[in-house]
Amino acid sequence: MSKPKSNNMKTVSVALTLCLVCSVLVSAAAVGLKPSQVENARLDRNKNILVAAGMFDPAKDTNDDVAERFKDFDVEIVDLKAGDYLDDDALSAVGIDDRNAYDASQATKNQALSEDLGANDPASIGRVPKYAKVYVKNDDAGDPEMIVLPIQGYGLWGTIYGFLTLESDMNTIKGISFYEHKETPGLGARIEEPKWRATWSGIHSYDENGEVATGVTKAGNPKDNWIDGISGATLTSRGVSNMIQFWLGEQGYKPYLDAQRKESGKTLESTDAVARQSLHQNSPYQKLGQTDAALTHSVTKLAVIVPAANVTTATNGKEA
Ligand SMILES: Cc1cc2nc3c(=O)[nH]c(=O)nc-3n(C[C@H](O)[C@H](O)[C@H](O)COP(=O)(O)O)c2cc1C
Repeated sequence: MSKPKSNNMKTVSVALTLCLVCSVLVSAAAVGLKPSQVENARLDRNKNILVAAGMFDPAKDTNDDVAERFKDFDVEIVDLKAGDYLDDDALSAVGIDDRNAYDASQATKNQALSEDLGANDPASIGRVPKYAKVYVKNDDAGDPEMIVLPIQGYGLWGTIYGFLTLESDMNTIKGISFYEHKETPGLGARIEEPKWRATWSGIHSYDENGEVATGVTKAGNPKDNWIDGISGATLTSRGVSNMIQFWLGEQGYKPYLDAQRKESGKTLESTDAVARQSLHQNSPYQKLGQTDAALTHSVTKLAVIVPAANVTTATNGKEA
């Protein structure tokens, strides 16, 4: 009669030992893999910054290229309302000790570092950070050549994260990338496709009066400077449109972009519309019956370029 009892004890103790060993192994794996997960996330983000900047081709470039090319960028923290950069003292004063480690998305969970958007929230993000992290590539003369801006907004199934790159006029879109979202593969997830992303290149963000002049139209309703939406993914396309308009607007980067444009002596009026058809004519998103004129987007040809003076640029803004 005592035999079955001892067998039960054995079974329970073996099961407990197994559980213990497994949980130790799982915890050790989680702790051990954490640094490489963080590193992979950083690599993926930097890769997408380069994609948006037109400096990385996932089809042929390597991770080593990411590290090398990312060195060209300075990391700056922008006060979104004031439109200027925070130097290290100003950063410390608002509780940001390390500009490279600063995460604006995380900052939206901190009352002191973000603001509730209330009803005025077209991108459905709830709160906007007071300080944004931007990536600036300067030319040989030390003037901004392009600026990569993090953007985020709600699609159909969740928040879409991406980067928008503007050329030195702080108006012409150079590129766009999306690196984290919950949209459906084959439908909303097509926002990641290079061919759709390419249709953004060369269009203007603002009209001559400084109003946001771009967005995503419903597929097949061409509108100058607007991007054709993705068929079957109208809701995701609308989400992207809303987020672009939000981040280019007054609550987003507009004060900063206006200030940068002013510092470099450029104006929205000095931009000159130039026909730019090559990128769009072969696009699979081109709708049947759409004319070349409807596909033509304006690009910037600057009439006056004055060397930047007194550009407020924090010095130690390199990020690994
Ligand atoms: C399973 C499933 C997944 C879907 N995923 C998306 C999506 O990721 N993005 C999107 O805009 N629409 C998605 N839709 C379609 C939307 O419900 C809606 O029909 C569509 O946005 C309308 O686009 P259209 O007007 O271009 O046809 C999905 C539908 C289903 C049934």
